[in-house]
Amino acid sequence: EKNGYDHFMLKEIFEQPTALQNTMTGRIDQDSQMVEFPELDWSEAKVNEWNKIYIVACGTAYHAGLIGKHVLEELTRIPVAVEVASEFRYRRPIIDEQTLVITVSQSGETADTLAALRQSQKMGAEVVGITNVVGSSIAREADNVILTMAGPEIAVASTKAYTTQVLSLYLMGVYAAQKKGQITEEYRKELLESLLKTPGQIEESLEHIKGIRWYAESIKDAQSVFFLGRGLDHAVALEGSLKLKEISYIHSEAYAAGELKHGTLALIEEGTPVIALATQNEVYDKMIANIEEVRARGAKVMGVTTEGNMDIYHYVDETCYIPATNNLFAPLLSVVPLQLISYYTSLALGNDVDKPRNLAKSVTVE
Ligand code: M6R
Repeated sequence: EKNGYDHFMLKEIFEQPTALQNTMTGRIDQDSQMVEFPELDWSEAKVNEWNKIYIVACGTAYHAGLIGKHVLEELTRIPVAVEVASEFRYRRPIIDEQTLVITVSQSGETADTLAALRQSQKMGAEVVGITNVVGSSIAREADNVILTMAGPEIAVASTKAYTTQVLSLYLMGVYAAQKKGQITEEYRKELLESLLKTPGQIEESLEHIKGIRWYAESIKDAQSVFFLGRGLDHAVALEGSLKLKEISYIHSEAYAAGELKHGTLALIEEGTPVIALATQNEVYDKMIANIEEVRARGAKVMGVTTEGNMDIYHYVDETCYIPATNNLFAPLLSVVPLQLISYYTSLALGNDVDKPRNLAKSVTVE
């Protein structure tokens, strides 16, 4: 049951530290500080054969895939394409025996994702399923399965399934890089140390919930909310925007901040709420420039950044700090305030948070 929480969604948001911990357990060897995946039969020869990776999924799982692309490319240098399953299945993707296909699905029953899995296998690809449900169709049919250990997710809006999917993709990235002999021991240790800290860091962030609630209530009457970010922050922006639409019914859009000038800026007016993610060091200054652009048009900006970026104060109306981490892992932490913003906005509007209109938890028909 809800364990004293008002809604399953809030309970599931708070379960994230434990869920992440459980997904890591047994997959990081403490002595050797290496990633282990006994469930994957990936020989070095096989991993070295792959010259292309597809990540195929729907909705939130697709957004997890966008993070996966970034990480897998960074760590393995194999090109990765991420596609929405309903698109992928109806075109002729270029797939052969040298292609790895990763299907991501909480339920393991999403019709389009399952169809994409079957099509990929038919064309000769190896398929890994990342799913939360043991015995689901995807778990049964994929060549290899990584189980996210999120525990049952009841709320339609996915939260802990997303963070555990993202974590699984991180671990898979390090694992593939190990197999390819492409990661130094030093870098691997740095990454894993940082990853091991993330459950505790989420717990820490969840203590600042009051400020987020106040912010959420302040945007409940907005006509439209914008989420901006670059790189990994853009992927998280897409997830934050989907979450808000799904349960608050407020129109929202996520944009790659560099795209503003190419059209979106026209939509910003006096008072438009903008949530700007600025966790990535290499593009921090670029983000600040984008924040200044929207503020010059009257936007009210909430900046989400890592502790230490104190100067953001000068450029935004509100600040939300996430604990400092390796840039690669910032999504695990920055998505949490966005989940809470959508939760509290939905609550303030009196919506059915756990069962939003028109949506089902599992989409088993196309
Ligand atoms: O069970 P799946 O992960 O395959 O579901 C995919 C989407 O239907 C799902 O993530 C959906 O987008 C969520 N309701 C978003 O919160």
